[in-house]
Amino acid sequence: MAEDLKAKIITEKLPKHIAVIMDGNGRWAKKHGKPRVFGHRNGVKAVRETTEAAAELGVEYLTLYAFSTENWNRPRLEVNALMTLLVETIRGEVSTLNKNNIRLQAIGDINKLPSKSQKALLEGIEETKNNTRMTLVLALNYSAKWEIMQAVKSIANQIETKQLRSEEINEQTFENELSTSGIPDPELLIRTSGETRVSNFLLWQIAYAELYFTPILWPEFRKEHLYRAIIDFQNRERRFGQISEQLTR
Ligand code: IPE
Ligand code: IPE
Ligand code: MG
Repeated sequence: MAEDLKAKIITEKLPKHIAVIMDGNGRWAKKHGKPRVFGHRNGVKAVRETTEAAAELGVEYLTLYAFSTENWNRPRLEVNALMTLLVETIRGEVSTLNKNNIRLQAIGDINKLPSKSQKALLEGIEETKNNTRMTLVLALNYSAKWEIMQAVKSIANQIETKQLRSEEINEQTFENELSTSGIPDPELLIRTSGETRVSNFLLWQIAYAELYFTPILWPEFRKEHLYRAIIDFQNRERRFGQISEQLTR
């Protein structure tokens, strides 16, 4: 079944970068009469499957939204559990990432994470830095508005110190200041759990992304669901402002 779907994917039209808003852990846990944390724990399996499937296909970048700046407003116990899970998961997955030649990176305000989480994350990044098959980017304590403000401040500072003139500001100079600098924009953004919003994720970078929403709750997301999203993406016509007849096929 999953293999049949995989066979339908056109390798030449594969998105280079897929971003995922992993949502629905809490509802999945509730459905099973369990505490929310149970949902987060089971979400790790979906992370593993999605990462593996993307790498096998030849996707170059996979960005997973794991914790937003707004998520600090959740009950303290849930936040703590998420931070612990982050440490455990990174520590537990590094050897698999290395085996699969996957490099780990992070975007977001990492300095504000608990020191244990930062440590595990930085170690994971360091230990996988020479891997070349795919880059797995974890968005942690991430907020797109925060990221854009950071870029604005950095550019303002470069002007103040006369390293840059305002006429020199363009999309490229701006993008250089984003935490995704050097990473191509995602062509496909997937959100699970049936919510159809962007929740402060990669606002600049998804300017022309195809959005794919699925009712599947994150802990149930498997390779076949990623394949379905990619097939859907490949059947869309990306016009970038042009009309259908102008596009060369
Ligand atoms: C996504 O699942 C995980 C995080 C935001 C960390 P949720 O925890 O948001 O699950 P729901 O949306 O409450 O079901
Ligand atoms: C978005 O999910 C953030 C992550 C997936 C980490 P949320 O569940 O926090 O989003 P909202 O609050 O429902 O928009
Ligand atoms: Mg949610």
